Amino acid sequence: MDRPFLDLAPCGPLRGVLRVPGDKSVTHRGLMLLALAEGEGRLLYPLKAGDTLSTARALRALGAEIVEEGPHFLVRGRGLRLKEPEDVLDCGNAGTYAPPPGPSRRARGAFRRPHRGRSLRRRPMGRVVEPLRAMGARVDGREGGERAPLAVRGGPLRGIRYTLPVPSAQVKSALLLAGLFAEGETEVVEPVPTRDHTERLFRHFGLPLGVEGNRIRTRRTGPFPARDLVVPGDFSSAAFFLVAALVTPGSEVVVEGVGLNPTRTGLLQVLRSMGADLEWRVLEGEAGEPVGWVRARHSPLKGVAVDPSLIPLMVDEVPILAAAAAWAEGETHIPGLSELRVKESDRLSAIARNLRAWGWRWRRGQTGLGSGAGGCGPERWSPSTTTASPWPSPWRACPWGSGSGSRSGPRSPTPASSGT
Ligand code: S3P
Repeated sequence: MDRPFLDLAPCGPLRGVLRVPGDKSVTHRGLMLLALAEGEGRLLYPLKAGDTLSTARALRALGAEIVEEGPHFLVRGRGLRLKEPEDVLDCGNAGTYAPPPGPSRRARGAFRRPHRGRSLRRRPMGRVVEPLRAMGARVDGREGGERAPLAVRGGPLRGIRYTLPVPSAQVKSALLLAGLFAEGETEVVEPVPTRDHTERLFRHFGLPLGVEGNRIRTRRTGPFPARDLVVPGDFSSAAFFLVAALVTPGSEVVVEGVGLNPTRTGLLQVLRSMGADLEWRVLEGEAGEPVGWVRARHSPLKGVAVDPSLIPLMVDEVPILAAAAAWAEGETHIPGLSELRVKESDRLSAIARNLRAWGWRWRRGQTGLGSGAGGCGPERWSPSTTTASPWPSPWRACPWGSGSGSRSGPRSPTPASSGT
């Protein structure tokens, strides 16, 4: 079967102000918590994409009512009483839904069998199954529970203290959600910080939460009321436009209404250390999430050695960082990437393979990436190394194309101070 692809022509400077779709991580969590809440709540400006729609579908199968209201979701929760689904749950490829919430104590014996998309079947599940079993959950799966599909039986849970062996916000969140149903206290210890949307949403919904350094605690909750929540723009989507502006001469782009949670914006720190002209400002908060704008101007970049402790704060932005580093003068080293091998694809190999296909020199180690010395620069990129599309392309009409009259400088906002 022919696979569709985009035919992209080089275009002039990128100039303008834009907004990006809602944050995927906050959308997943918002849907799950509203499904567990009492009454009706709206998830405003969520991401509606494959993964989050899979989560919505699975939650409907567990008894929540989720209806689309224009760009929003209206959720009527089950008030902690999820029901046994009539069929297997299809999570598509949504890794964030895959760790299921703890079984409801009122739905004892409930049987859920999250069915996995092809990529989920390859991903390691033991990291979430093992601590859930230690809490008393009955979970079965291929390879003793290491691989999906998984079968989860509801039943009583007890709190545990658990140190995450790998930095994973998904595993942390699964245990905190299970902790809401468990007897006693559940404590998750993070060796390095990961995105903290779950903790912020627990506070938004008034759920039990204690954070002391790298220790996060919760305990059994009673029924809690639904509350509306606004989903900020996804920093991971914004990252592509920011890097495009940084590497394209004459560009200046502002992304507004974007989530600037510091556990997500490690990329900004790394790009700044590479010499990027970046400014950002937090203007407001939504559901405990800082929201604001980021401005990127074209800048000459230099290679850096990335601090591995920043990787969990930019785990989904490593591909675009590698692309930025391909334009930088000097070598860039990005260590601590073993987690990228167990995403929906082996991202480590995919990054190196794709950048090499464009004529750039990138080395892939077992756990990291390194670029060639001297920078690669667009002038060394040869379009002849790409496959030409056989179809005429509507994409040739670049919205920022030179001389089109569509260029405009950023309208707003005017920064008063740079980001931190
Ligand atoms: C996510 C956490 C990250 C990230 C994924 C979404 C989340 O995964 O890569 O896209 O919403 O918690 P890990 O928890 O495996 O690091």
